Amino acid sequence: MSDQPILVTGGAGFIGSNLVDALLARGHSVRVLDNLSMGKLSNLPQGDARLTFISGDVADAALVSRAVAGCNAVVHLAAVASVQASVDDPVSTHQSNFIGTLNICEAMREHGVRRVVFASSAAVYGNNGEGVAIDEETAKAPLTPYAADKLASEHYLQFYGRQHGLEPAIFRFFNVFGPRQDPSSPYSGVISIFTQRAQQGLPISVFGDGEQTRDFFYIADLVELLLQALDAEQAVDGAVNVGWNQSVSLKQLLAQIGDLLGGLPAVTHLQARAGDIRHSRADNSRLAAEYRLPAQTSLRDGLAALLKS
Ligand code: NAD
Ligand code: UD1
Repeated sequence: MSDQPILVTGGAGFIGSNLVDALLARGHSVRVLDNLSMGKLSNLPQGDARLTFISGDVADAALVSRAVAGCNAVVHLAAVASVQASVDDPVSTHQSNFIGTLNICEAMREHGVRRVVFASSAAVYGNNGEGVAIDEETAKAPLTPYAADKLASEHYLQFYGRQHGLEPAIFRFFNVFGPRQDPSSPYSGVISIFTQRAQQGLPISVFGDGEQTRDFFYIADLVELLLQALDAEQAVDGAVNVGWNQSVSLKQLLAQIGDLLGGLPAVTHLQARAGDIRHSRADNSRLAAEYRLPAQTSLRDGLAALLKS
């Protein structure tokens, strides 16, 4: 194993901090670059000499260059994860979600670091593939600044791959859930909000009729894939969907949470969010062909673990 650290941008956030735990458990040294806009220091272990925390922004090119220097690989997760936040504030989210990626590319070129694992999103498909399983060839239709920034980031990573020898491993995550997904903002992931409110007995708001569907993926299963992408002899060419090819409606999700908790608080329906995708389900044949699929954590088991955390 290389002594050089792995840089995890956004490492104090939900996915990042779970990955950092797994990397440290495997004996790696880790650097985290995070501006703590959503992430928290309390998500990271304290007093581990192999972990270095750098407070700052991926939009700061000079800082990114210092953070990348001497690293073995990068996992680039830092971004404003909320689609709705990008609709409300496209200028500021672009700095994090696109300029941040470009800075990572440049810094890697400058310092000769090759492998980069990137968190793209199912959002790049927009409403294409609705009602069917979406494969990677499905026409892209970025409907929001968030989706446009993710798709542009993919293209830039591939350009730096062709031109400068970067080895991007690009994943298009569908809906990831689990412990440390922060429920405190209205922009947070739906499972984190619903479970927290249900546990506290607070009313739950469903945007629209609740028949919209998502393909939910448990965090521990995702971390296994991120580790494989770091370890692989060669980076997989092109983007790979991360989902289970399963549709769960918000109504079904609420029923499972209610079942686990022995009841639910009041559920009210509000107007559907503008730009909200109706049905999102991954064709994961490419994932199965290119990676070892983790043993699937069922939605029920994942929810139970989250409710206990
Ligand atoms: P998160 O908000 O918990 O993590 C993002 C982290 O990035 C946070 O710690 C935040 O403080 C940090 N960050 C944001 N802007 C930054 C900036 N400009 N500079 C430095 N740090 C910054 O969200 P997450 O769910 O862990 O998402 C991680 C990545 O995965 C994001 O790129 C997100 O777009 C992507 N993704 C997530 C999902 C999902 O379902 N959670 C699905 C698809 C893609
Ligand atoms: C999520 C991710 C996004 C990722 C995308 C990929 C977050 C915050 N968003 O977006 O980063 O790129 O998956 O598929 O992690 N809803 C309610 N009530 C609530 C909150 C949400 O009804 O209180 C609804 C939404 O309107 C939507 C569904 O739940 O229909 C899912 O919303 P959300 O968890 O924000 O996820 P996506 O928009 O799918």
